[in-house]
Amino acid sequence: MCKSPSTNPNWHTFLTRLPKCEHHVHLEGCLTPSLIFHLASKNNVRLPNPAENPAYASIDTLTHRYGHFTSLDDFLSFYFTGMAVLQHKSDFEELAWSYFQQAHKDGVHHAEVFFDPQVHRDRGVPYSDIVDGYVAGCRRAERAFGMTTRLIMCFLRHLPLESAEKLYATALEAGDLKPHSDSDDEESRPRIHGIGCSSSEIGPPKDMYAAIYASAASKGINRTAHAGEEGDASYVAAALEFGATRIDHGVRLAEDPELMAQIAQRGTLLTVCPVSNVQLKCFDSISDVPIRKFLDAGVRFSINSDDPAYFGAYVLDCYCAVQEAFGLSVEEWRVIAENGVNGSWVGEGRKRELLEGVDRLIEEFKGLL
Ligand code: ADE
Ligand code: ZN
Repeated sequence: MCKSPSTNPNWHTFLTRLPKCEHHVHLEGCLTPSLIFHLASKNNVRLPNPAENPAYASIDTLTHRYGHFTSLDDFLSFYFTGMAVLQHKSDFEELAWSYFQQAHKDGVHHAEVFFDPQVHRDRGVPYSDIVDGYVAGCRRAERAFGMTTRLIMCFLRHLPLESAEKLYATALEAGDLKPHSDSDDEESRPRIHGIGCSSSEIGPPKDMYAAIYASAASKGINRTAHAGEEGDASYVAAALEFGATRIDHGVRLAEDPELMAQIAQRGTLLTVCPVSNVQLKCFDSISDVPIRKFLDAGVRFSINSDDPAYFGAYVLDCYCAVQEAFGLSVEEWRVIAENGVNGSWVGEGRKRELLEGVDRLIEEFKGLL
């Protein structure tokens, strides 16, 4: 994976130091093969028998297999198998902390991270261990790095609707899922800042969470949804219809110029994951991801890693890959960075700080790129 754009070495420094907002990364997608094997051994979790699935013979064979996903569902089978090693509150905290350390190195100043409670609960892990562990990882990163963080709880479309309904009720009862708050005060802000939905796209009804999203909207809870990744632009239209205010992926929107113009006009943020799209065979190469189309159409988007441990690319690698493929100008990076800040679920004060950081860096690099 690209570590340094070939054109001018200053680009790599610029992209590293650019204050980044990451809005689309699954914490369970940060489980590296070595952490999977380590936690499996610590927690006595049996990984699949290598005689049946040779990918699980060793860390190396698993890493190799991750380079050959054939589709979203092929990837998801490894993703859901891997996360079975997470058993204790400390495992969730360790996983989140490992992501935030890398994100800090990559110049992430604000991170909104997904997690998938349903599958952990189905394995018998108490809800509070999952959320307490992830919240502890977030707080540790905030204290250590001065970054801001947000947790987003994802509903999984391949599981029965009742399972999502139960999770939603539990999070509300626990007082974790609360209306959007601009505050970063630990006491008053929600522990979970919003809901999302992910997993298989084609198959489940497009509007399966309409009632949950309507309820969340009525309570002022933030809402995003994976849509338009493998599914066509009608999945994006459906997600907007059922009340998502942000779209995760959304790249197939480019096939529908009319909807694309509407989304540009509304200012809806797409959380684009270019390396993920190539690894999951949504596009043949990064240059086929509609980055240029979105910029030209005024569609707001951020650049994200999705499942960095599975796709071999953390967020800085994704920024570099985009620069390699599209040769963007500094002003185009300003637009991307500013749209990312403005589409973040933080208060105006934090947005101002982040925007000032972007501006300072661009001033510093003017004339060098
Ligand atoms: N869960 C983790 N990564 C995902 C992706 N790219 N699409 C849908 N669900 C996911
Ligand atoms: Zn995703």
